[in-house]
Amino acid sequence: MIVNGKHYTSIWRNEKKQVFIIDQRILPHEFKIVELKNLSDFCIAIKDMLVRGAPLIGVTAAYAVAVSLLSGHKKNDLDMICSNLLETRPTAVNLFWALEEMKKALLSVNDDDILEQAFKKADEIFEHDIISNKKIGENGLNIIQEILKKKKSNKINILTHCNAGWLATVDWGTATSPIYHAKKKGIDVHVFVDETRPRNQGAQLTAWELSHNNINHDLIVDNAGGHLMQHGEIDMVLVGSDRTTSSGDVCNKIGTYLKALSAKDNNIPFYVALPNSTIDWNLKNGLTEIPIEERSHEEVSYVQGLLEGNKIEKVNISLAGTSCRNPAFDVTPSRLVSGLITDYGVYQADENSLKKLKELTE
Ligand code: MRU
Repeated sequence: MIVNGKHYTSIWRNEKKQVFIIDQRILPHEFKIVELKNLSDFCIAIKDMLVRGAPLIGVTAAYAVAVSLLSGHKKNDLDMICSNLLETRPTAVNLFWALEEMKKALLSVNDDDILEQAFKKADEIFEHDIISNKKIGENGLNIIQEILKKKKSNKINILTHCNAGWLATVDWGTATSPIYHAKKKGIDVHVFVDETRPRNQGAQLTAWELSHNNINHDLIVDNAGGHLMQHGEIDMVLVGSDRTTSSGDVCNKIGTYLKALSAKDNNIPFYVALPNSTIDWNLKNGLTEIPIEERSHEEVSYVQGLLEGNKIEKVNISLAGTSCRNPAFDVTPSRLVSGLITDYGVYQADENSLKKLKELTE
């Protein structure tokens, strides 16, 4: 998508096999490009959230394997490389998916060809992500058009949580792709952006990318969504997912579940946009089976912002030493989900419907 009039993807590589990312920890205040040169750089980038968002974590891990081989690791090291990467973040299943894809592609390749093959496969995963998200956008556009037909209007108000935008994928985003496609179709689209405490991905990333791509939006505090729904200001909730089970339970950024409850109480459609690679076919019960990442307490007790003099700083908002909890994701049960907008079409969040998707993609 566009930043200051120029097209960017959230990760890219050049002909010299150098891989670059945008440091998402310091947006929107600073736009900094960083090169990831070895396995340790990649692990830190994922763990410390220079890159984040389920699909982008997967693509980054794929390039991590390729760059690790470039920086001296051998085929024998593949298991070690993958286990280091798998330890970075536990919830987004795309990380596991991308590493499985890399392993499958490389296990039967000999040492002389492995480097070329690793970059070829990582490039394929990169391209596949762009195509999937574009398709999600086209499929989500149909849903937006249906809602507008019922509403007899050309204006849609969408609430989104966290950042399921192009910064969380390679390009387009998942939840934002239907939004970008709607705008291209001439629909008057307006987005309510949840700030998304504790890390504020909504305030810092979603609002930033929507503004660079000319999408009308208002930033709101996380607690405002229910009130706006009660007053008819929201036509649709559209979020992403980090892991969705074979029965349609959706794991996403902490706070998503509360939005789904409010949407249900107010009869507002609650859609989840996700590529097929975000579905964990091995799991059924999201609440009991999905590992939920617990992150640092500092993310709760501190907030980061821009001080006078253009310095990015963290400030403590609670009494020093206050005990905190910081679960980073929650699970929205399938009964609260109106539909899953995937790259293969829109599916009901239930086992029977998802079985059809599984058969189609196997
Ligand atoms: O902790 P993050 O920023 O990696 O969490 C991101 C989300 O929860 C997104 O909604 C999800 O990954 C979907 S991204 C297309």
